[in-house]
Amino acid sequence: MMNATANNQSQQLILALSKGRIFEETQPLLEAAGITVTEDPETSRKLILPTNHDNIKVIIVRATDVPTYVQYGAADFGVAGKDVLQEHGGAGLYQPVDLHIAKCHLSVAAPKGFDYANAVRKGARLRVATKYAQAAREHFAAKGVHVDIIKLYGSIELAPLVGLSEAIVDLVSTGNTLRANDLVEVEHIADISSRLVVNQAALKLKRDILQPILDAFGRASVE
Ligand code: ATP
Ligand code: PRP
Repeated sequence: MMNATANNQSQQLILALSKGRIFEETQPLLEAAGITVTEDPETSRKLILPTNHDNIKVIIVRATDVPTYVQYGAADFGVAGKDVLQEHGGAGLYQPVDLHIAKCHLSVAAPKGFDYANAVRKGARLRVATKYAQAAREHFAAKGVHVDIIKLYGSIELAPLVGLSEAIVDLVSTGNTLRANDLVEVEHIADISSRLVVNQAALKLKRDILQPILDAFGRASVE
């Protein structure tokens, strides 16, 4: 009896997703694995959402928190942007699949009138506002550019407009946000897409139930 209960629990699966684009863009991949989330996170106040499988639940967390839930095993697997994973560091996570969703890139941008290349050439110490402090530090260190990183949590594009920084490091997709704020990309740092992340212990202990889902995600995520 004890064993049956323990076994049942070990076969429960929890998937961590964030609301918005990650949740939406993950839906076709879940469908390919035969999983339907039966409540809408945009209208439900629930943070644990049911699916058409009694033993599979979806938890809704902040995009930046997905790796933490998976690292500690509070979620068995999740979907997170490469940007978020780089900031987290990836400890305790197995990253088997690039899902090719939520595609964008990480760039350095500055106001149109600011001669970024000249400032760098002259060795000026630049203030750079970003949500991605780790990626920004690595980028500028590799180029030997001296910067003061100013950590922000949103509306990054505002910083140079009000004198908080000379430049920013942020995500760009269509470029509309930069254009709307008279900013231009001055350096491309990295292409970004979202990855499936899996708790390393769950992969071993729940492989029977997890592996077919990972395989379905892998087959459905075309470039
Ligand atoms: P948090 O709620 O923790 O602040 P967030 O607001 O960045 O996170 P989303 O905007 O849903 O959360 O972004 C989730 C992921 O989607 C990002 O980590 C990134 O990988 C990707 N992403 C962000 N902006 C874009 C965009 N404009 N186009 C495509 N993908 C994007
Ligand atoms: C992201 C990112 C940029 C914007 C870039 O913001 O932080 O501001 O998208 O996309 P674009 O090049 O297509 O304009 P998001 O839309 O996620 O808003 P948020 O940061 O407020 O969540």
